[in-house]
Amino acid sequence: MSIYDKPTDQDAYILAVETSCDETSVAVVKNGREVLSNLIFSQIETHKAFGGVVPEVASRKHVESITQMLEEAVVQSGIAPAQLSAVAVTQGPGLVGALLVGIMAAKSLAFALDKPLIGTHHIAGHIYANRLVQEIEYPCMALVVSGGHTELVLMEKEGHFRLIGRTRDDAVGEAYDKVARALGFPYPGGPYVDRLAHEAEQATLLPRSWLEPDSYDFSFSGLKSAVLNVLNQSRMRGEEPDLAAIARGFQESVIEVLVEKAVRAVRETGAKELLLCGGVAANRGLREALAQRCDQEEIVLRIPPLKYCTDNAAMIGAAAYLKWKSGEFAPQTMKAEPGLSLEAWSVED
Ligand code: KG4
Ligand code: ZN
Repeated sequence: MSIYDKPTDQDAYILAVETSCDETSVAVVKNGREVLSNLIFSQIETHKAFGGVVPEVASRKHVESITQMLEEAVVQSGIAPAQLSAVAVTQGPGLVGALLVGIMAAKSLAFALDKPLIGTHHIAGHIYANRLVQEIEYPCMALVVSGGHTELVLMEKEGHFRLIGRTRDDAVGEAYDKVARALGFPYPGGPYVDRLAHEAEQATLLPRSWLEPDSYDFSFSGLKSAVLNVLNQSRMRGEEPDLAAIARGFQESVIEVLVEKAVRAVRETGAKELLLCGGVAANRGLREALAQRCDQEEIVLRIPPLKYCTDNAAMIGAAAYLKWKSGEFAPQTMKAEPGLSLEAWSVED
């Protein structure tokens, strides 16, 4: 329970903070839909030198920029601090040290302004990024594809999440980044593999990981190993591997499985829409294949603009609005939850 009353039907101005990985972001969002400001500071240049995100470095970079970004996001929104309705922050999943920086900042601000605090789920944010651009029709299915997640989420109604499929090993973005590294690209390598795949004249045939026939789960680590095998074998034969063909073969395998499982999930659950969310939604091959297949199957496909697909605080403001409406606020003792469950985060009936 919280010390705050259940909100009235007045406009809600939610200040949202996102620091779960390597983007520091602060936004002000009106009624879960209208983005008044959305500042994003990417740390990618810093982490590139290490070939991946270094958790301690990520936390330190968040600390360096968060205070100034909070101030700037409020100024840009044109909303006076006293007018804010609540302060929301990503509680999990994510890197614990990185999450903590955002949580401490959000708690301090909520305490100083005497505003309610809303702990928000990062994946709910990726899904509700769609709400920043259009209404969502329920029941709907979300295909979440990011650096840390690959999930099929059924939402029978607003704010209710049921995980019907997830990766059993690597997330799809993680697999892209590892394959990219093996092909000689810098971190994060997903976009390089995507680009190279489009330049290829042929595709190396690589396995598809379907798992059990009725499963909505995913697995990408076997595919990643298959790529490494192809590279090693051609080098052992003294041949130069055809990197473009390998990139295309990898991309075709990933996309075929994602598209098939997502379409089957929509069909079998009677979902009215398919939402594509997360950073890998930037993948041109995936967008094209999914759009084409959904067109054939007469499935409504929604993909938010790229700026809302990758990590940002506006999406956290959109998801937090669900909890604002249900009056579910977090105590000042809220902790970072690196393994926060999406289903458990569903709004109360
Ligand atoms: O959602 P996101 O910004 O961060 C997480 O929450 O993980 O996703 C980042 C991931 C990285 O793994 C990156 O390589 C991948 O998205 N990515 C792509 C593309 N653009 C970004 N993967 C494949 N093709 C792309 N065009
Ligand atoms: Zn993310």
